[in-house]
Amino acid sequence: MIFESHAHYDDEAFDEDREALLSSLQGRGIGTVINIGASLSGCEATVKLAEQYSFIFGAVGVHPSEIGELNEENFARLRTLCDHEKVVAVGETGLDYHYPEPDKDLQKKWFERQLLLARETGLPVIIHSREAAKDTLDMMQALDAGEIGGVVHCFSYGKEMAREYLNMGFYFGIGGVITFPNAKKLKEAVEYIPMDRILLETDSPYLAPQPHRGERNSSLNLPYVVEAIAELKGISHEEVERITEENARRLFHLTVQPDRKR
Ligand code: NI
Repeated sequence: MIFESHAHYDDEAFDEDREALLSSLQGRGIGTVINIGASLSGCEATVKLAEQYSFIFGAVGVHPSEIGELNEENFARLRTLCDHEKVVAVGETGLDYHYPEPDKDLQKKWFERQLLLARETGLPVIIHSREAAKDTLDMMQALDAGEIGGVVHCFSYGKEMAREYLNMGFYFGIGGVITFPNAKKLKEAVEYIPMDRILLETDSPYLAPQPHRGERNSSLNLPYVVEAIAELKGISHEEVERITEENARRLFHLTVQPDRKR
């Protein structure tokens, strides 16, 4: 079954039909979901979803665009949430220079803190890096992120960057963008990245694949991503599903079946 490694089902885009949608996923080929916290309230909601659904696990972290809300007190809460039995990663965290705010130094401060949190708790880290390739890599190398391990979510850089993250032992989250006709650089990177380092992800409700581009995304669209990867790699859909699920289970230390309590 498909392992969805990055979704935001706590997002208000799912307020109308969250329960119906989530209850339908396992019957429609989606075996496991990692719900990703992007803000403090998102992390609390993530843990609640993980408690409610056996096949959902959580990652707790604060997205670089949201770090303005962080302080020592609520960061301690994040640390506490890492001990929850269904929290399997720290993130998403990283650097995003698309907008001028928040300040780069502040982003770097809380990115470093979250990398150190991952190291301290022994959890892998989920990296968000947009238009910040050099600074992200420099910080991760300086902090020996290879020892922490994790995934570069929505990988959007080229082959050269892919090589650096491969050398650090990181995985690559590949989602809807791979189906876009103009995603030439990403397609080259995916051809280059070994199959045993690729994870499937949607970033729902964002980044819906072709032919649903622009619509609300959900894990149900992952077969389009599977198809695109299968074509690039010259392997079957079943192989893509099987290998990416094995990869995700290895990274997130999920050895038991999702319908049983961890
Ligand atoms: Ni995300």
